[in-house]
Amino acid sequence: MATWDPQQYEHFSDLRNRPFADLVARVGAEAPKSVVDLGCGNGPLTISLAQRWPEATITGIDSSPAMLERARALDAAGRIRWEQGDVAAWQPSPAPDVIVTNATLQWVPGHVALIESWLRALPAGGWFAMQVPGNFDAPSHRIIREVARAHRRADDLVGALREAPVETPERYAEVLAAACGHVDVWETTYLQILDPQGAQRSPVLEWVKGTALRPLLDVLNESEQEAFLAELTQRFDAAYPRASYGVAMPFRRIFAVGRKG
Ligand SMILES: C[S@@+](CC[C@H](N)C(=O)[O-])C[C@H]1O[C@@H](n2cnc3c(N)ncnc32)[C@H](O)[C@@H]1O
Repeated sequence: MATWDPQQYEHFSDLRNRPFADLVARVGAEAPKSVVDLGCGNGPLTISLAQRWPEATITGIDSSPAMLERARALDAAGRIRWEQGDVAAWQPSPAPDVIVTNATLQWVPGHVALIESWLRALPAGGWFAMQVPGNFDAPSHRIIREVARAHRRADDLVGALREAPVETPERYAEVLAAACGHVDVWETTYLQILDPQGAQRSPVLEWVKGTALRPLLDVLNESEQEAFLAELTQRFDAAYPRASYGVAMPFRRIFAVGRKG
């Protein structure tokens, strides 16, 4: 599993938080007793669930010790149960009333079968809400793949690439509809305006260093990382030119929400 750096991830927290807000705005649960956030990351979004449902028991599960350490530090009131675990091995037992999983299932191969099993376990009236990026054909990801494949350590890097780790919105709709009476699936392309102040050398690089590049950086030593990042910077400059208002990075995301029964 990739190592995570909460500080790097937090560079663009406003832009990363918005899809979560858009996702949970479509969850109609009024007073759930228990809520689980799978792949809770560094914690602020899980904490926002506790603010929305103050009576609920909220559990945040993540595989990264660094992300969980940050989450525990943010949760000064100790409101959330933080647990280290692999989403792929998680069992909804006892089943929560709401399952939320934001920007995580793209890291979990075979997640459709997991969703099916979670939906089977969900009680009638329970909610499932997920969001995954749908940008694996975007210039940022194409460039990462090209630079990795041309690298002298391509054999190692290619193993860390994830080609198409998510399904189409239609496929998620089909999976949810098999168990849920109410299904709500949509996609949005956010035109992310990165670094309007012009403070970063390559804001697109800073963005992908927080997420998509994690497994590749894990493979390289420090000097290899430097050269790899320098080449990506050049390629990103050409693909995402700076405008007067910042660097525009379109980012497609896929959302799926279902209510059981
Ligand atoms: C992009 S972050 C999203 C974090 C948070 N949900 C958010 O929206 O800010 C992805 C998170 O998924 C976690 N993750 C990836 N694969 C996982 C797995 N198999 N089991 C548990 N957590 C996983 C990572 O550790 C990371 O914290």
